[in-house]
Amino acid sequence: MTKTMKNIDSFGHLRGESLFVDDIITKQNTLFGLVFDSSCAHGKISKIDYSQAEDIEGVIRIFTYKDIPGVNQIGGIIPDEPLWAEKEVHFAGQPIAFIVAKSELIAKKARALIQVEFRDLPVITSAKEAKEKNSFINAPRSFNLGNTKSSFSECEYVFEGETFSNGQEHLYLETQGCYAYPMENGNIKIISSTQGPTQVQKAAAKVLDLPMHKIEVEVIRLGGGFGGKEDQATAWAIMAAIAVQHLRKPVKFVLNRHDDLRMTGKRHPYESSYKIGLTKELKIKAFEAEFLQNSGAAADLSPAIAERTLFHATNCYYIPNVRTTVYSCKTNLPPNTAFRGFGGPQGMFVIESAISKAANELGINKRFIQEANLIGENEEYYYGQIASNVEAKNSWVTARKEFDLDTLENDVADFNEKNDRYKKGISIMPIAFGISFTNTPMNHARALVHIYQDGSVGLSTGAVEMGQSVNTKMLQIAADTLGIEPKYIKLETTNTTRVANTSPSAASSTADLNGKAVLKACKSLNDRLVKIAANLLNVNEKSLSFQTNFVFIDNKKTKHTWQEIVAKAMMERVALTENAHYATPEIHFDKTKEKGHPFAYHVYGTSITTITLDCLQGTYEIDSVKIVHDFGKSMNMGIDTGQVEGALVQGIGWMTMEEISYDEKGKLLSNALSTYKIPDIFSVPKKIEIIPLETEGNKMAIYRSKAVGEPPLMYGIGTYFAIQNAIASFNKEYKLAFNSPYTPEKVLMSLYENHI
Ligand code: MTE
Ligand code: HPA
Ligand code: MOS
Repeated sequence: MTKTMKNIDSFGHLRGESLFVDDIITKQNTLFGLVFDSSCAHGKISKIDYSQAEDIEGVIRIFTYKDIPGVNQIGGIIPDEPLWAEKEVHFAGQPIAFIVAKSELIAKKARALIQVEFRDLPVITSAKEAKEKNSFINAPRSFNLGNTKSSFSECEYVFEGETFSNGQEHLYLETQGCYAYPMENGNIKIISSTQGPTQVQKAAAKVLDLPMHKIEVEVIRLGGGFGGKEDQATAWAIMAAIAVQHLRKPVKFVLNRHDDLRMTGKRHPYESSYKIGLTKELKIKAFEAEFLQNSGAAADLSPAIAERTLFHATNCYYIPNVRTTVYSCKTNLPPNTAFRGFGGPQGMFVIESAISKAANELGINKRFIQEANLIGENEEYYYGQIASNVEAKNSWVTARKEFDLDTLENDVADFNEKNDRYKKGISIMPIAFGISFTNTPMNHARALVHIYQDGSVGLSTGAVEMGQSVNTKMLQIAADTLGIEPKYIKLETTNTTRVANTSPSAASSTADLNGKAVLKACKSLNDRLVKIAANLLNVNEKSLSFQTNFVFIDNKKTKHTWQEIVAKAMMERVALTENAHYATPEIHFDKTKEKGHPFAYHVYGTSITTITLDCLQGTYEIDSVKIVHDFGKSMNMGIDTGQVEGALVQGIGWMTMEEISYDEKGKLLSNALSTYKIPDIFSVPKKIEIIPLETEGNKMAIYRSKAVGEPPLMYGIGTYFAIQNAIASFNKEYKLAFNSPYTPEKVLMSLYENHI
């Protein structure tokens, strides 16, 4: 019924009426916060003097770790991250103090007057160097299947190599921020731009030494999160809350873009090595990989991200003998964090690199190796989950057929034969992405539904709207289940006093988890109202339903309305509120064995990317990306297609142009949009074609509509290999490099490497 609904925010966004943190009308006496951060990536604070800054008219107070009532600790998985540095700093951009002033401008002036001196300590910026120096976040982890040692010796071909994939800046349109204010009895309300309201509440309670119920966290919506606000919205909210606790005045704190870029973590860069063994028939018999994750100066979500790298290290291939190890390497960069794909893309880049290398050495088309190894029904993912309802081959074959891959490849070959300056490259990228938080206990959600006595409905869930349109999906479910028109339903803000103990909106699972809870709550209410209507009209409950606001009997519309029945229920003192809880069934994972069934299901798909390379300049254009994607039974094709396109372009950005750069002292060089380039309308593919794969979906997905937020990002990886392919057809001496992003500068070097 509601499948063609537009994102309910589109109207407000377009008119500039949607509210983000910075749009909230400020209360009287609101103060403004600004962080004073470390300019040194590793060192001891030998001297710090705030006096000049404090003397400025309009500066209210400068807070440091000494003002923390509870613990100076915000680490979620591992307690290794102070809110404010005490005696040492571990990355450039690390918060040291929090200036609260009458205006942002005053706070900025004050910041410039803080005198600080550091005694420098050695700075580590790369994961490799960290490993050499034994600098780790935690113990390494390994996943195993079969026996790689013995099976390599049985392989016809064995290849080894190294890869690098760089970090990525989230560049949400709305920077990090919050607005905190005092309530009565020492209670505090925080409006935050966070994916994890409960995360903020829990961490704030610890640092402020308050029980969680004294802190209310509210989220209206985010101007993008992309993982960057799963964990890293917390620190800012706590800083503002501490100021509120001391001053009992409202404090607003929205980071400017430079501060946000400098102080926040990004996608993890990975330095990895692999060994791949194949049989004569091109079956991958053995695969080993070692991943060095550049975690930054504190754990943040790194251990969970490292785990997902292992889960996706074999992408959508069945390999009988696998051994993978990941090291979370502690460096002096800002703690790196969740980013769409959550370590999965980094893992998949390595296996795709290994296959490319093997194909190149064997002088064959890479796709023959890919095709020969796609996972099939009842084969085992190397972490123990038996693949079921697998769509790897289906999506591959459909893409080949629907997009006529043979012709596309012939066209590329023809073009390359006829042209010298320009060369085309083509690649095919199959994906499999596991849906669920890899940490099983996080897979749950709740919904709270109020039907007001006039028949209008208020719907609260734990889901955070960040542009992915989860609110629209929640509204669809409620409207369809209650049998009323969407206009009678209001999506409430996400608030910890209405829906408590939530997991962050992440892992692409928000719609599944919260949607199933909405479905459950609305079903209960619907049952209740059907009973009342059936009584009133003296018909059998089974023959009665609500549809588009009216009572239907035997699927025939009556004149009785939903509003009428709600009013009747009210008179009969029937509860018009329902709260429901959903927890994903069946999933489990045993970390002592590193085996289990961690995912509710997998999302599959295959993309074909064609690019044209200017071999004089090293620049390239993406001609087309053609995708067969496994939406299951999409509950909203417009929204889901938007997610595929957006994720694809973000993946392409990561693989081609977004180059995070730190100097050897750990200072961010790509610290503005002049030095950090993301895809714009001129660099996106000239054509994106998406064909939905015909499948039954999965019962664990809401309405059998599969999660879509992250998986399509990995189609972007295909672009790297399409570029590589074009370079190889120009420069026969080119030694395949697996060093992303493939910026035009790097491409140009590759084009003329060993070239005569
Ligand atoms: N789409 C938009 N427009 N903005 C975002 O911030 N985040 C992505 C993805 N799509 C994001 C987005 C990430 S990282 C995740 S995990 C999912 O949306 C989260 O939402 P979902 O669970 O509802 O898919
Ligand atoms: N994905 C995203 N976020 C997470 C996960 C995950 O698997 N686990 C914990 N946070
Ligand atoms: Mo997404 S990286 O799970 O927020």
